[in-house]
Amino acid sequence: MAGDLTGFETDIKPLFREVDRRSMLRSFDLWSYDDVSRHADAILDRLRKGNMPCDGPWPPAQIGLFERWTESGKPQ
Ligand code: HEM
Repeated sequence: MAGDLTGFETDIKPLFREVDRRSMLRSFDLWSYDDVSRHADAILDRLRKGNMPCDGPWPPAQIGLFERWTESGKPQ
């Protein structure tokens, strides 16, 4: 399944809305490869629990995409 993943810029960054980025800048930058890589475990944990984003959970397919990205070595 990781074969259809090309990387952060193409597949992952566009999942984060401007409001997500703005709300989370206090902790990290969701539009930064380095920040999202560093905090990937905490991000995935929140996405799975469904308490982030604060205004409603992601659809399972979107969480699965983020999960595959972390499992495939976080390609840039
Ligand atoms: C996909 C989008 C988002 C992701 C992946 C995300 C992820 C996270 C993570 C990992 C934390 C823990 C940070 C830490 O402990 O240092 C956190 C905290 C927080 N986020 Fe988000 N966030 C997202 C969107 C939002 C939005 C839209 C809001 C709306 C205001 C928000 C508000 C907060 C607040 C207030 C906290 C601190 C309180 C807490 O730990 O629950 N986030 N978020």
